[in-house]
Amino acid sequence: MRDAENVTVRLSDYQPPDYLIDEIALVFSLEPKATIVAARSHVRRSGASTSPLVLNGERLELQSIAIDGAALASDQFSIEPGRLIIHSPPASFLLDVVTRISPATNTHLEGLYMSGGRFCTQCEAEGFRSITYYLDRPDVMARFAVRLEADKASYPTLLSNGNLAESGDLPDGRHFAVWVDPHPKPAYLFALCAGKYESIHDQFVTQSGRKVALGIYVDPGDTPRAGYAMDSLKRAMKWDEEAFKREYDLDVFNIVAVRDFNFGAMENKGLNIFNSSLILADADTATDADFEAIEAVVGHEYFHNWTGNRITCRDWFQLCLKEGLTVYREQEFSADQRSRPVQRIKDVKRLRARQFGEDAGPLAHAVRPSSYQKIDNFYTATVYEKGGEVIRMLKRILGEDAFTRGMQLYFESRDGTASTIEDFIGCFEEASGRKLDSFMRWYEQAGTPALKVRGDYDASARTYRLHVSQRLSATPGQPHKLPAPIPLQIGFISPDGAIIASKVEGDNLSRTEHRAVLEDTEATFEFSDVLEKPIVSVVRGFSAPVTLDDDLTPEARLAQMAHDPDPFTRWEAGQTLARSIMLGEGGASVSELTMALGRELDRAQEDPAFAALALRLPDLNELILSSSSPDPDKLFQSRESLRRAIATALRDRLEGIAKTRGETPFSPSAEAAGRRALKSAALDLLAALGPSQTLTDAYDNAQSMTEAVAALDALGASESPAFDEALAKFYDRWKANPLVIDKWFAAQASSPRHDVLARVERLRAHAEFNLKNPNRVRSLAAAFAMRNPRAFHSANGDGYRFLASLAETIDPLNPALAARLLTPFESWKRFDAQRQSHARTALEHLASLPQLSKNTREMVERTLA
Ligand code: TRP
Ligand code: ZN
Repeated sequence: MRDAENVTVRLSDYQPPDYLIDEIALVFSLEPKATIVAARSHVRRSGASTSPLVLNGERLELQSIAIDGAALASDQFSIEPGRLIIHSPPASFLLDVVTRISPATNTHLEGLYMSGGRFCTQCEAEGFRSITYYLDRPDVMARFAVRLEADKASYPTLLSNGNLAESGDLPDGRHFAVWVDPHPKPAYLFALCAGKYESIHDQFVTQSGRKVALGIYVDPGDTPRAGYAMDSLKRAMKWDEEAFKREYDLDVFNIVAVRDFNFGAMENKGLNIFNSSLILADADTATDADFEAIEAVVGHEYFHNWTGNRITCRDWFQLCLKEGLTVYREQEFSADQRSRPVQRIKDVKRLRARQFGEDAGPLAHAVRPSSYQKIDNFYTATVYEKGGEVIRMLKRILGEDAFTRGMQLYFESRDGTASTIEDFIGCFEEASGRKLDSFMRWYEQAGTPALKVRGDYDASARTYRLHVSQRLSATPGQPHKLPAPIPLQIGFISPDGAIIASKVEGDNLSRTEHRAVLEDTEATFEFSDVLEKPIVSVVRGFSAPVTLDDDLTPEARLAQMAHDPDPFTRWEAGQTLARSIMLGEGGASVSELTMALGRELDRAQEDPAFAALALRLPDLNELILSSSSPDPDKLFQSRESLRRAIATALRDRLEGIAKTRGETPFSPSAEAAGRRALKSAALDLLAALGPSQTLTDAYDNAQSMTEAVAALDALGASESPAFDEALAKFYDRWKANPLVIDKWFAAQASSPRHDVLARVERLRAHAEFNLKNPNRVRSLAAAFAMRNPRAFHSANGDGYRFLASLAETIDPLNPALAARLLTPFESWKRFDAQRQSHARTALEHLASLPQLSKNTREMVERTLA
């Protein structure tokens, strides 16, 4: 059957709903292959119109349908692909719909499905419509009461949103539970979980004294690894009270960990559902990156309770209203829990790695897109990461006070509503008394602005004039762009590293840092009392998501690396130097960069996490993005040769760090993680020197998963013959733990070894490879295509064929997963004709498949366009 409406949805077509549902009572009789869902909704017409009631529904078997107790005759309604239409309903009525569904055979992992023999749901964005016929749109908000019935021995735990109202036994070994959520919500926030779990419990007392029972439910045997998630949850609840005055609003907050999950986690009201990879962690099985991600995502989903749930989105075009804002809140949480400057650099790295490429290719879209076919395809780095940057810029432009007032006004005035970006920005206009029309361009225009900066020092007048201009290239569907306000954070140092203060007009104080906003295409900022010719940094803290052309000399960048007071600028200076060496653009000499990195090692004790970041050169994806006609093999070689030079020069010291014994007992703290990060960075550089005993020993002596994975990666990258032996030991030790075996797959797929294509083909045929488990699929496919660009873009097209063929196989099982696997093709047009033709052939083959899902078809067509 062909998919329902194969049409494009447009923001400009938005119409408020003709009908609303205030309340829904759901009864689930849970059986793996035949679950019966009885839904009773209180429906009312919302306007004067007497249009038919059009309910969404997919993959449903209708059992019965009645209005106010009377079954509908066959001429009173019709069923079309994707919807059920009731031709002339009354103005207000009780709607009873009974459907039958089969969770056990639902491989889409959307709607109600089974994972490891347990029932769970994923309803965002449009999954509720495969549970029952409903007004499945976020501006229809209802109070949900949910009764779950199931076999008690097989499904002893029954969970849904809100508070538990009632539970008890039923005949025939069955039991039930009733959950009532007092807060009206859109259907995408509905959730249920049922099965055998083990759980840990704790309590949080809110600032006003409400006691909240916290629970984390995991597969039996996994509770010893759930403690860090619980600890993160309590810290997140406290932080939201302190940072945003947001308090939790139910008596329970539950999290369930699920092994088969399409994304990271989901913010269902009072019942967050998580990919188990973002809950389970201990020293032996999780890396520091995993701990960090758990803290961040537990925070993220919790913060959605206010930014997403109490204030939700009017329609899916407003997705960034909840996601961008929640990413921003999550990043601030992590910054406060760990190191603010290190967090900022990591956030920038992630933005550049994922979002800049998206913005520069055929999939570029605005933070608020204006059309889509499947909204699942727009859960992107642009909506999330750039959406977070937009909030950060808003704060920089308005200042801390006005930003805080705007946020509080938003929470107070929009609570309980389904809102738009205009509603949100309106709160900041009101709070600040400023117009923000031009700021809206950040939401409307795709593409990364290029910022050009040139300085002019007048020694006799002691003035410095800074000319700044912005340019935004055309992106698909947006040929002409307008300038958007770009916040700048400007500071000067002297060539010998002294901080230079200066004045701006209208301010009598001499300052060491200035905030400014580039409102137009270009502007000149003038600084006075500048005592010597300065080295300028203009986007300190990465004050805006732009690329920067600042014309600094290599000597100036070396001075910044050593002395700029802003850690981001120090890190960035080193990255820029390394990039220009690797791209063959001249600039600093290898030995100067090496010496500068040596100085980072000298002061590594002050902040090992920062030193670790400084020692990591820009990766191959970044080099590909910054070069006009990228040759992946050449770029790889030039990156390796710089790494070799650095490792040779710093060898003794790197070896010393690489040989330090892992700390016991293990601590997941940011400080301890920073020391391990430095060790991992040292191993990574040493790998450039080829196989060595240091690398082999590092694996054998690893005290934590962080060290084991770092050593494994280094053995792989060094082409060491000990790689396979280490992999065999690793597999043997961890074969019972799927999350660790994911790392085993990823370590091989992401390794830049010469034989990686043969390896990934073998891994695809491995008994433990599982097309139905998204984590496992990503541990092979995403690790390969995103972390191993040289192999993915191999000139013979094998990498492209591998990814496309995997997506083709997965598409009928899990369209959302298959579609997202294809994102690495977003860069295909940047390469030479031969590579392009291989990529085109692979994509066109997919496009030619008649049964291809709507998700995957949209991705393929946009990528080819
Ligand atoms: N709203 C989730 C988050 O960012 C994302 C998410 C989880 C999701 N599962 C999904 C989005 C399924 C689309 C489809 O917190
Ligand atoms: Zn989110």
